[in-house]
Amino acid sequence: MSQWHELEHQYFMNTVERLPVTLVRGQGAWVWDEGGRKYLDFVAGWAVNSLGHCQPVVAEAVTEQAHILIQTSNQFYTIPQIQLAELLVKNSCLDKVFFCNSGAEANEGAVKLARRYGKRYLGGAYEVITTMGSFHGRTLAMVVATGQSKFQQPYIPLPAGFVNVEYNNIEAIKAATTSQTCAVMLEPVQGEGGVNLPDDNYLTAVRGWCDQTGILLILDEIQTGAGRTGTLFAYEQYGVEPDIMTLAKGLASGIPIGAILAKDRASVFTPGEHGSTFGGNPVACAAGYATLKFIIDNDIAGNAGRMGQYLTAGLESLRQKFQFITDVRGRGLLVALEFNSDIAESVVMACLDRGLLVNRVKPNALRFMPPLIIGREEVDEALAILDKALSSIVI
Ligand SMILES: Cc1ncc(COP(=O)(O)O)c(C=O)c1O
Repeated sequence: MSQWHELEHQYFMNTVERLPVTLVRGQGAWVWDEGGRKYLDFVAGWAVNSLGHCQPVVAEAVTEQAHILIQTSNQFYTIPQIQLAELLVKNSCLDKVFFCNSGAEANEGAVKLARRYGKRYLGGAYEVITTMGSFHGRTLAMVVATGQSKFQQPYIPLPAGFVNVEYNNIEAIKAATTSQTCAVMLEPVQGEGGVNLPDDNYLTAVRGWCDQTGILLILDEIQTGAGRTGTLFAYEQYGVEPDIMTLAKGLASGIPIGAILAKDRASVFTPGEHGSTFGGNPVACAAGYATLKFIIDNDIAGNAGRMGQYLTAGLESLRQKFQFITDVRGRGLLVALEFNSDIAESVVMACLDRGLLVNRVKPNALRFMPPLIIGREEVDEALAILDKALSSIVI
């Protein structure tokens, strides 16, 4: 065992089963371990390194900002956060932005905002409807929002105010709506739940229901936003506009950041009702601005769409070859490959041995979420490694 693995066991809380690799360097779609071995990274920090590892425009923005101003309190105006907020608003359907530090924190804030809206306009309604198989983060409230009992069970008793209903079932949302409901919160495509796509018209039906009842639609675009699904935001592909949207992960290509965006009418916080010491940090916002500007100026979302199709076509070919592959699905560069049995862990290890990092999203499914800047050569290389890895699996 590497000395780093031993030290980790000694000093770290036991919250994750790590793969037996210590990564020390990254560039583009590649990472290197402490022994100098190179891996093609189709995990990208769990859909975070949108522009790849150590993308120069991001590294330069961070370095430059770190020499100018690293942190102040939010009682003062700072320029990078205003610039990033303006860029987000000008390129989305939302009007106002609040910055925080992670996805879970953005969703917490979004739910607080919906509750404030409920107090002001919906007679004190506070309940949020979410879906089974969703993932909204690890804070105590967000494990309740997350419709997966494995994240909830260890923490019972749970905070009140959430109802989990079946995904892709508009009637379930209608049935769960009461006078206490203030919002529906959904991922446009469920990421951690296994890359589950919405049925045609599901999101428009949910939007219609929210309009009819006056409740808010919160879209959690933490995984799908910032170009991952082939458009800057996934909602653009489904013909709906959220009242509130949350972002994090790929927004600053690896620097921690979260954001809540809202339409003017839903932007109901007043001073003192919400806040964050580090939220809107100048270095994080400079990284976010550099990332988002690069994505927009270079049509990186378009590349994600094209490379996603190319990857999906390659995976479909592997499906013809390997009978145990049962499904290929995804949007842009958020793609899953499903098997007829729980072999995902073995495939992950077989890929690792051959120099490819992929994610086991379910016991029987892999998820691919490479940097959005990848080209055909890298997709070809990943598919070739995966082909060999799948050939090595004994069913
Ligand atoms: C859709 C979605 N929402 C929220 C989160 C939580 O984000 P974070 O881990 O930054 O708190 C995740 C993380 O995987 C996610 O995929």
